[in-house]
Amino acid sequence: MKKIIIAIDGPAASGKSTTARLVSRKLNYIYVDTGAMYRAVTFIFLENGIDPEKVTPAEVADLLSKFPVSLKIMDSVQHVFIADRDVSEEIRLPEVTRNVSAVAAIPSVRKEMVKLQQAMGLEKGLVMDGRDIGTIVFPSAELKVFMIADPAARAKRRQLEMEGKGQQVDFDSLLKEIEHRDFLDSNREDSPLKQAEDAITLDTSNLTIDQQVDWIVSRAEGLLVTGNGSQV
Ligand code: CDP
Repeated sequence: MKKIIIAIDGPAASGKSTTARLVSRKLNYIYVDTGAMYRAVTFIFLENGIDPEKVTPAEVADLLSKFPVSLKIMDSVQHVFIADRDVSEEIRLPEVTRNVSAVAAIPSVRKEMVKLQQAMGLEKGLVMDGRDIGTIVFPSAELKVFMIADPAARAKRRQLEMEGKGQQVDFDSLLKEIEHRDFLDSNREDSPLKQAEDAITLDTSNLTIDQQVDWIVSRAEGLLVTGNGSQV
């Protein structure tokens, strides 16, 4: 059975995670949300009072060996662990969201996370979403999608998602936060958010989730039929 790696990159709240999760279910692939890993590292920084502007590579190495980040699939849902503590809920807190781009810009943090991500791709049959999957983590992924949507559509989606969890948030401040995070993610020196040359753009501003999922699944199936997906 042929299996491929599907890399989905794009800015904050562009619908990557929901789409990637559903694509993985349809293809019976593993789904990896790499943003959750950077969020977990941010949570470690916050709990230990570490300043991302001042931390040294040696301190990062020490911190990540004391508090190893790992992902586990439980009942088909990805859970994020710091050592043996499940932090899947806590990593979505607004304080983590506000600080994650600063932590994700640290080269020694990225190096460790990329190592873990690449190990998860050894067996293919993987959908991974993030900012640098098609450019740095899996530059030879068979299918690369760069998912975009206009900032207002993204802020609206994030607002609905948070309201669904019972959190009231102001649209304008969400929009500002999203634009600020995009700016930091796109302008950092190490692995900035940018479209891989061979990625296909998917503008989801006016698409439903089902349309986004079908669009990616049909391209993946096309690759499997034409034999461009590699044999495992
Ligand atoms: O909020 P949203 O779901 O769009 O973001 P996320 O996927 O949870 O990612 C959170 C943050 O982690 C991003 O804003 C980036 O700063 C960072 N990130 C990264 O640098 N590289 C990745 N491969 C994934 C996320």
